[in-house]
Amino acid sequence: MLILVIGQGAREHAITHTLLQDSKVEVVCAPGNPGIANIAQVDSVDIADAASVVALAKKRQPDLVVIGPEAPLVAGVADELRNAGFVVFGPSKAAAALEGSKAFAKEIMQAAGVPTADSKYCQTVTEARTALELFGAPYVVKDDGLAAGKGVVVTDEFDAAVAHAMACIDSRDGGAVVIEEFLDGPEVSLFGVSDGTTIVPLTPAQDFKRVGNNDEGPNTGGMGAYSPLPWAPKNFVADVTKNVLQPMVDEMNCRGIPFQGLLFAGLAVTSRGVRVIEFNARFGDPETQVVLARLNSSLSELLLAAATGKLSSLPELEWKSESAVTVVMAAEGYPDFPKTGATISGIAEAEKLGLTVFHAGTKSNESGEILVNGGRVLSVTATGSDLSDARHQIYSGIERIEFDGEHHRSDIALKAALGEIRLGEHS
Ligand code: AMP
Ligand code: GLY
Repeated sequence: MLILVIGQGAREHAITHTLLQDSKVEVVCAPGNPGIANIAQVDSVDIADAASVVALAKKRQPDLVVIGPEAPLVAGVADELRNAGFVVFGPSKAAAALEGSKAFAKEIMQAAGVPTADSKYCQTVTEARTALELFGAPYVVKDDGLAAGKGVVVTDEFDAAVAHAMACIDSRDGGAVVIEEFLDGPEVSLFGVSDGTTIVPLTPAQDFKRVGNNDEGPNTGGMGAYSPLPWAPKNFVADVTKNVLQPMVDEMNCRGIPFQGLLFAGLAVTSRGVRVIEFNARFGDPETQVVLARLNSSLSELLLAAATGKLSSLPELEWKSESAVTVVMAAEGYPDFPKTGATISGIAEAEKLGLTVFHAGTKSNESGEILVNGGRVLSVTATGSDLSDARHQIYSGIERIEFDGEHHRSDIALKAALGEIRLGEHS
């Protein structure tokens, strides 16, 4: 089976790596990155341009196309591929609005009875001020458009909240913000694979959004992740599937916008129960790296079953009992002003120690060196018998990898490994 994977990050590297565990599968990734090029064929393409992606699919004739990032989904690339007769894992443009528009996601959640934070949609700064006063501190202000996880400000400062609202509203025509109630409690990322009717949950993970240890500094796309969550409430996955994932899929179906692809629920386990923070319409990065590290079943069979409406006949997924931890190595200045160009050394040495090194923002030069080419540079993953063991593996091996200005968090999965996460407290 030939699978075309669209994207170029550590998530697509992890997806390609996992698909290739199945000896029947061949992968072409476009545009890919130097790490992916070591394990699969790569092809260049402008992923947000549907015509180029369709032209590539016509050339390669894949049995399945898997779309990684949100930008091509929101641009309607899945629709154009399906119109051209290809089998695609990834939602239509209309269904991807669950990620592309926070206001649309709220509307569907409300109709489906899915628990989430109370919120107000504001198109003027005056409306935003009123909503901020209504909800009180801590203030949560979200850009309504796509912002790669970086359009959200959570602050105790009223003036900073107003300033972010103003910046989002003024940033473009029709700019708007969603202001909402603050949710306490630890966060969980739970992915569901949907064929439009049936949704199959994957194993939950926790992401670390802030750039620094102890959740200090600005929000990022994610600095690390781990799975499983030893502290998760009993029956967590079954409950969230029943109360969140399946109702969303049913509501989208009722509206004639079936959601076929990866539904990513960002959840807060609050003192009042589980609440949805947001939905994404794609695999999360870096959560995918740890979730797929624990998958025992065939990823290609799962994604193909979803893309062809056959999830209800797929055997139950199997998970490894091992724990997985991934740590993102970031460029100097990330997330505000990442500096590119530094030479990376030590990847092969880390791999010899058993780590899996997924490339995110890298490029190679003529002499075959790997250089920093983005904010999140590498996503380094290890498994172990439990979280402490996986942490030991990752942090002893990651030291081998070096580049100027490199920084990473040293506390990924630490609280969970120490048993220090308590439900109903923000972490
Ligand atoms: P989002 O882009 O909606 O995932 O938000 C990014 C991050 O902001 C989340 O992962 C949370 O850490 C934080 N956040 C978003 N909404 C809330 C909320 N209502 N209460 C507390 N934290 C939030
Ligand atoms: N790690 C969060 C995301 O992929 O949006």
